[in-house]
Amino acid sequence: MQRLLNMFREVLPALLCGGLLFGGTARAADEPSVPYVPTPQAVVERMLAMAKVTAQDYLIDLGSGDGRIVVTAAKKYGTRGFGVDLNPVRISEANDNARKMGVTDKVAFYQRNLFETDLSNATVITMYLLPRINLQLRPQLLELKPGTRLVSHDFDMGDWKADASVRMEAGDKFSGAGGDSDVYFWVVPAKVVGGWRSQFPVSGKPQTYEFSLEQKYQVVSGSARVNGRSVKIENAKLRGAELAFSFTAEVNGAPVKHEFSGRVDGGRITGQVALSGSRLTARVEWIAERA
Ligand SMILES: C[S@@+](CC[C@H](N)C(=O)[O-])C[C@H]1O[C@@H](n2cnc3c(N)ncnc32)[C@H](O)[C@@H]1O
Repeated sequence: MQRLLNMFREVLPALLCGGLLFGGTARAADEPSVPYVPTPQAVVERMLAMAKVTAQDYLIDLGSGDGRIVVTAAKKYGTRGFGVDLNPVRISEANDNARKMGVTDKVAFYQRNLFETDLSNATVITMYLLPRINLQLRPQLLELKPGTRLVSHDFDMGDWKADASVRMEAGDKFSGAGGDSDVYFWVVPAKVVGGWRSQFPVSGKPQTYEFSLEQKYQVVSGSARVNGRSVKIENAKLRGAELAFSFTAEVNGAPVKHEFSGRVDGGRITGQVALSGSRLTARVEWIAERA
């Protein structure tokens, strides 16, 4: 039974992508691109817990079905937000749910195409779509405010690896047939690729640093140029707008470990550098600007 269900989970996207479930014909522009399969309540709870939603968040569920994700977030955490779905029956069910749970002051549901929905106010976006739809959405999601959290039920984002993921058993999946559910979580990374320049005092003498950063989604690497020498950046971590990295470089004739942490805000990074060497331990303010 479990094998059959897992096969179903793997085969469904392929059938849908190939248009077989739609009789192989092209879909009308406003026909749902994903069938209605509700997320089991235990998985909804896990999705919201992974995103650590709070009353300060604004959550958007793309393809909101009966509204359970948006309504649960509002009821349990006081989160505001909305859901969009192309199917008017789902919108009506979602509004009924919101009324029953007493959260109509926090949530709304719109009959709208998810691809035509303004996502810019979201701090959290949830989805239970299909691999192909996730990939279609990916460029738009990567343009959202750094730090926006994304949670997807069952389907990943191709080579944009999740920051966290979990597999769980969901007894009430597929109308009670049961099955495994995967939950994937990402934080939209800031754009840091390119050249940056910074100057700060080390042992009272101003030092110039030039950074050259490479980036694939949240994975960052690169080098720094200090006193005419290039060193490899190590332990780079980018989570939303928070960037950290380190390296050891010779300064004033002695090796000094540099541990940078800062917040990226467009063309500027602001933070601190911890410096440690045989003749020096210090923490200094650090500002980098695009070179
Ligand atoms: C798999 S269900 C998920 C429902 C809900 N988010 C949940 O997790 O329980 C996908 C939903 O997306 C809706 N949908 C499909 N394509 C859509 C589109 N292009 N725009 C808006 N909604 C869409 C479907 O009508 C369906 O209700």
